[in-house]
Order: sequence, then structure tokens, then C-alpha cells
Amino acid sequence: MDYSQLKEVIQSRRSIRKFADKPVTEADIRELIDCARYAPSDTNSQTWEFVVVTNRDKIRVIETMTWDELHRRAEEAESRGLSREARLLVKSFGPYATAFSDAPALIVCLATPYQSKFRERIFDPIGLVQDEVWREEGIKSSCLASMNLMLAAHARGLATCPMTGPVLLAERRLREYLGIDETRQVNMVIALGHPNEIPGKLPRKEIDEILTIVP
Ligand SMILES: Cc1cc2nc3c(=O)[nH]c(=O)nc-3n(C[C@H](O)[C@H](O)[C@H](O)COP(=O)(O)O)c2cc1C
Repeated sequence: MDYSQLKEVIQSRRSIRKFADKPVTEADIRELIDCARYAPSDTNSQTWEFVVVTNRDKIRVIETMTWDELHRRAEEAESRGLSREARLLVKSFGPYATAFSDAPALIVCLATPYQSKFRERIFDPIGLVQDEVWREEGIKSSCLASMNLMLAAHARGLATCPMTGPVLLAERRLREYLGIDETRQVNMVIALGHPNEIPGKLPRKEIDEILTIVP
């Protein structure tokens, strides 16, 4: 394995919000999901599923529902006297939460329930942790799979943007629209397409700021 090539892929991946008017093929999508499914997961539980929307009209519907919910929340905030926050929600968060609008594909990343022999035979009987912790366990593996997917996309010359904006705002409507039932958690969406921008480098925290080595 060539480490420097892998590092280059990791360091040069950026969140892309402008996409060329070119579809993503089903072969591309299947290839990315193939990479996603090799992510690690707790007891190999593979708590991930992906719903990929490739119909631009449907992506537009998801954009509209996100804006609708955002405006509803802004009006609510306004009525509580939070005018400045309401304005910022619309002006700053709106475009951020809908940055998938010209992507030819939108991947909805789901987390499935975490089930394992450990949980069934040991953890649940003794009440090791609350159910919420197992929900988080599913999300953790789903995130790792999503990262695999984004790096694979970048290495194939495709662009992605991971996004929770539409989920925070319009999860209920998104679920209804795509028929995602309550057994699944909506982790994030990933805009996918061919890049139409080359963003500059974004700063990162220094290694010494985030690293503690315990000798
Ligand atoms: C959990 C999570 C949620 C994010 N939500 C959004 C979003 O709603 N809209 C958006 O445009 N970008 C979103 N991003 C992308 C971040 O803004 C981006 O990763 C960050 O600014 C670093 O830039 P880079 O990915 O280009 O390195 C999200 C990223 C993560 C990890």
C-alpha cells in the first residue's frame, strides 16, 4: 500500500457544494457503497444502510422541505422576540443546510439498530447501559462507513458534502417522503456529484492541540 497516496486522498478531500451538471452513474454509486461496507463496526454489526436519491426533482423536493421547515422555525423564533437569530437562521444556515441543491445525487445515511450476541446475552439482561447508548453505537459505525464512502468518492474524482442541516430541520418530512421508518436513525445526508469548485485549504487544529500521548 502506498501511504503517501492515501494521505494525499485524506488531505485533499474537501466538502464540495457546487456540482457540475453531470449525473453520477449507478456503477459509481455501487462502487462507493462497496467501499462503505468495509468500514469497521462494533462486533461487525454493520449498522448502516444508504438510500440514494438520483432524481433531481426529488432532490429539489427535499431542498424545498428543508427551506419550509427552516422558515417555520425562523417565524417561531421571531414570534419569541429572537429576530436576530431568526434572520441569521435564514441567511446563514439556510444556504448551508441546502448546499446539496445542485447535486445529482443525495445519499441518505441511516443507522440500523445495534444488535449483537453480547448485547442480547449479557448487556441487556444486566442493564449495562441505557438504550440511547446502543442507538449511538449504531451511529458510530454508520459515520465510519460514510467516511469510507466520501474518501472513495474523492479518490474516484467525485465530490461529496456531508450534511446534517436537512436532517436537523426536516427529518420527519424526509422520513415520510422517502419511506424511512422509525427503526432506522437518519444519521446524515451526503451530497454527491462531480465537482464544480476547488475550495482552498481549511485550517486544522495543530497536532499538539489535539494530541495527548500517555507514556
Ligand atoms: C456532522 C457534520 C455535519 C455537517 N453539516 C453540513 C451542512 O449541513 N451543510 C454543509 O454545507 N456542510 C456540512 N458539513 C461539512 C462541514 O462544514 C465541513 O466538513 C467542514 O467545514 C470542514 O471542511 P472540509 O470537509 O472541506 O474539510 C458537515 C460536516 C459534518 C461532519
